[in-house]
Amino acid sequence: MAYTVPKLKEFSPAALDKAAERLLTALEQESAAVNTEADWKTFRDRWMGRKNGVLTQVNELWLKAAPKGAKRDVGQRVNLARARVTETVEDGKPKRIVGYADAGAANIGEVTVGKGLSAKVKLGSAPAVVEHAVDITLPGNRHPLGAEHPVIKAMNEILSVFRNLGYSIAEGPIIETDYYNFEALNFPPNHPARDTQDTLFLANQDSKPLRDRLLLRTHTSPVQIRTMEKMKPPLRIVVPGKVHRNDPPDASHSPMFHQIEGLAVDTNITLGDLKGTLDHAMKALFGSSVKTSFRPSFFPFTEPSAELLVSCFICGGRGKRNLEPCRPCKQTGWIEILGCGMVDPNVFEFVKSNGYDPRKVSGFAFGMGVDRLAILKYGVDDIQLFFQGDVRFLAQFA
Ligand code: DAH
Repeated sequence: MAYTVPKLKEFSPAALDKAAERLLTALEQESAAVNTEADWKTFRDRWMGRKNGVLTQVNELWLKAAPKGAKRDVGQRVNLARARVTETVEDGKPKRIVGYADAGAANIGEVTVGKGLSAKVKLGSAPAVVEHAVDITLPGNRHPLGAEHPVIKAMNEILSVFRNLGYSIAEGPIIETDYYNFEALNFPPNHPARDTQDTLFLANQDSKPLRDRLLLRTHTSPVQIRTMEKMKPPLRIVVPGKVHRNDPPDASHSPMFHQIEGLAVDTNITLGDLKGTLDHAMKALFGSSVKTSFRPSFFPFTEPSAELLVSCFICGGRGKRNLEPCRPCKQTGWIEILGCGMVDPNVFEFVKSNGYDPRKVSGFAFGMGVDRLAILKYGVDDIQLFFQGDVRFLAQFA
């Protein structure tokens, strides 16, 4: 019996998977039976016909009929089915050989090229050639286009805001020394602030002095020091990159995630510059109506230190969406975005010899979690989705 698109009684992910599987099985079976060009046309119209093709029916009977809560689940399956149908129809087209049909027994063909131009073409032993001929007029096999990963997309967006302000992009190694990751950022050995950034150290380094031991960097801040060692002030950089921490994976934590660091050093940089720059950046990222707020905090490498909050761009700062509590801001109307502060003079002491005398220069720094921002911006509910490589998830950002 030929496959017909059923009305769905149930919209649970399991029921949807079953329905999608039946559809795809039918697709495979029918595509296997395509032999001639005429078969293929019937096949194409049956699956892709605008009026009553299977895909159109799937849209009507599955997607449109789905209750609100299930739209997303249904949408994912329907997108997948659409991609598979398109691909199968495309691939199933019988390979036709054209161009030799009229040559007949004669092995001279005449090709007319535009107006008044003509060329004689010697076809040689045409029949043998026909066997192996490739019809260059057929469309090639289409490969689905890739898309930017949502984390990279968010990262590029943030970087471009700062690039427009004249910042350069700097990078540094993911395997870092204790010196750059901690010591030069004013985390002395055994300082309790190190506990909040527990990470993996490479094995068998006990004979090395602590500062030379290698670890997976816990933040992008070490690139502040590395860049100040290489470049004299004034300096304005943003630093994207991967970082690692000893955090078991859950919906909002991953042992590997991404940060963007910022650093501006010059003469007379003040807290006002920090506030103005970040207020501008938040408006560029989340819309001109967001407000920013700075709350005192602590980081060893900045003094004073602050956390930057933006008014919740999901609920407009009300803490509620309609009557529902707003989850992203935990009903507070504010979302924490990053850590920041004025560069601690102790940090400049480590790079003083390259022109960073803390009595002459000042600066501000900030660091933000890109994955977290991508989660908020795109309404993703589990950070793990970013790293599982499931095309059904990633294709939604294409
Ligand atoms: N490195 C900090 C962290 O990972 C974030 C941070 C805070 C970076 C304040 C900064 C800063 O540059 O000034 O938790």
